[in-house]
Amino acid sequence: MENEIRKKIMLSGIQPSGDLHLGNYLGAVKNWGARADEFDCYYFMADLHTLTVRQNPAELRRRTLEQLAQYIACGIDPEKNTLFVQSHVHEHAELGWILNCYTMFGELSRMTQFKDKSAKNADNINGGLFTYPALMAADILLYQADYVPVGEDQRQHCELTRDIAVRFNNIYGEVFKIPEAYVPKAGARVMGLANPGSKMSKSDPAGCVFLMEKPEDIARKFKRAVTDSDTENCVRFDMKEKPGVSNLMNIYSAVTGKSFEEIEREFSGCGYGVFKPAVGDAVIETLRPIREEAQRLLADKAYLQQVYTDGAQRASAIARKTLRKVYKKVGLVEKPF
Ligand code: TYM
Repeated sequence: MENEIRKKIMLSGIQPSGDLHLGNYLGAVKNWGARADEFDCYYFMADLHTLTVRQNPAELRRRTLEQLAQYIACGIDPEKNTLFVQSHVHEHAELGWILNCYTMFGELSRMTQFKDKSAKNADNINGGLFTYPALMAADILLYQADYVPVGEDQRQHCELTRDIAVRFNNIYGEVFKIPEAYVPKAGARVMGLANPGSKMSKSDPAGCVFLMEKPEDIARKFKRAVTDSDTENCVRFDMKEKPGVSNLMNIYSAVTGKSFEEIEREFSGCGYGVFKPAVGDAVIETLRPIREEAQRLLADKAYLQQVYTDGAQRASAIARKTLRKVYKKVGLVEKPF
C-alpha cells in the first residue's frame, strides 16, 4: 500500500570541488526544479566525494554554501525539495562502506572517471578515488531513488549503482529500489568552448562558463569559442565534422528550447561571427537572474543554514530507515540505543 501512494523519488548531487558551471547547469540542475510537484526530490552537495582530490578546506566550505545558494537560485525551492550537505547525513559514509564490500575490483577499474582522474592526479591516486562509485551508489540507494537526473558522464556510475543494487537484492531480498539515470536530451554533454573535444570542466577555465561569472567575461568566452576548421562557415549540426559549432548549437538549444532545425533556419546565411555572440547573449540572459538571486541569498547566511539544517533532518529520517534494514540483512547486531 505504501508503495502505491508513494511519489517517485528523484535524487542527485554535485561535488562542490569547483564553482558550478554551464555543464552542471544544463546537464543536471536545470532539470531538477521542474519536477518538484510530481516527485519527492533530494538534492545535495556531494562534499565527501570532493575529498578524493586534495581540497583547500576554507574554499571547500565556501563553495558548499555557494552551491546551496545556486541550487535555490536555479529554482530548486527548499520548501518543495530536500536540500542538504552529504556529510551531514552520516548514513552515506556508513552505507558506502557496506556497498564497497559488494562492488568488484574489476567493476571499479573500468570506471572512466577513475581513469581520467587518476591520469590528472598521478601523485594522489588514493583508495577513495577508486571506490568512489560505491559511495555514489550509497547516496542513491539510501533514498530508494527511482530517477537520478545527471549528465551523460555520470551514466556509467548510475549503471554500476544498478548492478550493485541488483547484486545485493539477489542475496538479501528486495532491499533497494533499482534506480534509473535521467539524462536530458539537450545539454547532457556540454563540451569546452576552448576545446570542443573534451567536456566542459573547471579544469579548463578558458573554455568553461561559470554560473556566477560576469556577463562581459561570458561574452568574451563565447566570442573566442573554437569553431571548426572547415571552410563552410555555416551553422549546421554535425557532431563529427563540426564539433565546435554543434556544441554551441547544443548549448543554444538547451537554453532556448529550440530544435537544431529551428536554429539552422534562424542562422541560415549567417557566419560564426554572428552565431557565437548570439549564443553568448542567450546564455548571459539565462544566467543573469540566477547569479543575482544567488548573490542575494549568499548575503543571508542564517537562511541558508536553516535550509541545510531542515534538509539534513528530513534526509536523515529516510536514510536511517534504509541503513537499519541493510545492517539487519547483513547480520550486524542491532544498536541498543
Ligand atoms: P559532478 O560533480 O562531476 O557533476 C555534477 C553534475 O553535472 C553534470 N555535468 C555535466 N553535464 C553536461 N555537460 C558537462 N560538461 C558536465 N559536467 C558535469 C554531471 O553529469 C552531474 O550530473 N559523482 C557525481 C556527483 C554525485 C552524484 C551522486 C550524482 C555524487 N553522488 C548521486 C547523482 C547521484 C559527480 O562527480 O558529478
